[in-house]
Amino acid sequence: TRVGVIFGGMSVEHEVSVISALQAINALDKDKYEVYPLYISKDRDWYTGENLMEISNYQNQKELFQNAQKVQVVRDSEGKVHLQKDPQPKFGKKTVGEIDVAFPVIHGTYGEDGILQGFLELLNIPYVGCDVLSSATGMDKVVMKHIFRDWDIPILEYISFYSSQWQNDRDAVGKKVETELSYPVIVKPANLGSSVGISKAANFEELEEAVELATEFASKIVVERMVTNMKEVNCSVLGDYETAEASVLEEVLGSDEFLSYQDKYQSGGGSKDGGGASKGMESTNRIIPAEISSEQTEEIQTIAKKAFQVLGCNGVSRIDFIIDQDQNKVYINEINTIPGSLSFYLWDPSGKDFTQLTDELIKLALK
Ligand code: DAL
Ligand code: MG
Repeated sequence: TRVGVIFGGMSVEHEVSVISALQAINALDKDKYEVYPLYISKDRDWYTGENLMEISNYQNQKELFQNAQKVQVVRDSEGKVHLQKDPQPKFGKKTVGEIDVAFPVIHGTYGEDGILQGFLELLNIPYVGCDVLSSATGMDKVVMKHIFRDWDIPILEYISFYSSQWQNDRDAVGKKVETELSYPVIVKPANLGSSVGISKAANFEELEEAVELATEFASKIVVERMVTNMKEVNCSVLGDYETAEASVLEEVLGSDEFLSYQDKYQSGGGSKDGGGASKGMESTNRIIPAEISSEQTEEIQTIAKKAFQVLGCNGVSRIDFIIDQDQNKVYINEINTIPGSLSFYLWDPSGKDFTQLTDELIKLALK
């Protein structure tokens, strides 16, 4: 089976995607699968080639592109999906390869939000992970909350608004925050991952700053009640509607009240493309299994599975929770339908290594 692992992309999580994808490529069983790395540059160009499988090559983008083959992904009249040289040569071989299944490993916008999935639907090629709708709903923090609330899945109190509403009457928004949530609050762009654009606000002045930052990334903003005495606990779910199973839990240790991009990916102190970040999600400080009661563990696993099912997810997702330790209450924070490192480290403890995980994901895609 020929697998096209699609990564990179146009989101702010580009670098994280490169790490996750190279980990997945490395894990894929080469006796079973012929792997084509399909790297999407920040300029939307697609490349394939051996050199794309080596993390250190990403430090020099110019060289990276020179040593790779620019391609177009096209469907021929027989329905086969080819990687064609771009620009296409007048003479000689146009096609670089053919793929049977696509394996998206892009975090964030254009990759995790249904857009790439829609492109793959048009190509009519099977692909790993969530479909268009579950990807899109999982990416939008507001739409996601609506669905979860509808299914009695506990979410944090929040308000949401568009940047135009903020521009027109920020005082009204401020009033709403005060009356419906009260400070401190967390301000987030509605559709980003890796904590990009997220900050806290303890008063109106800080709210102004936080909203300004968030609107740099998205036009839809979410403001949530901030849980001050909290634990962040994540659970991965693997399968489809029928077979969904929950992993062990991880407890994430941040250096601040909430995890920043820095904590998550750059805590090793290296450069963005290599160094500390090359370990990806593994470099985050975490405790596995999370140090919480077995009742709360089970409660979280049950909610995680339900969240995965109500959104109609497929493949592997990671559902992030916040435990309000004052209320001893569990809230779902968000779902990541293409989690960092595909959350392989949460399956490892139950005896499923990354190779088996990728194998299951491809089987699910071809089911
Ligand atoms: N969005 C990142 C990759 C994560 O939360 O796993
Ligand atoms: Mg996240």
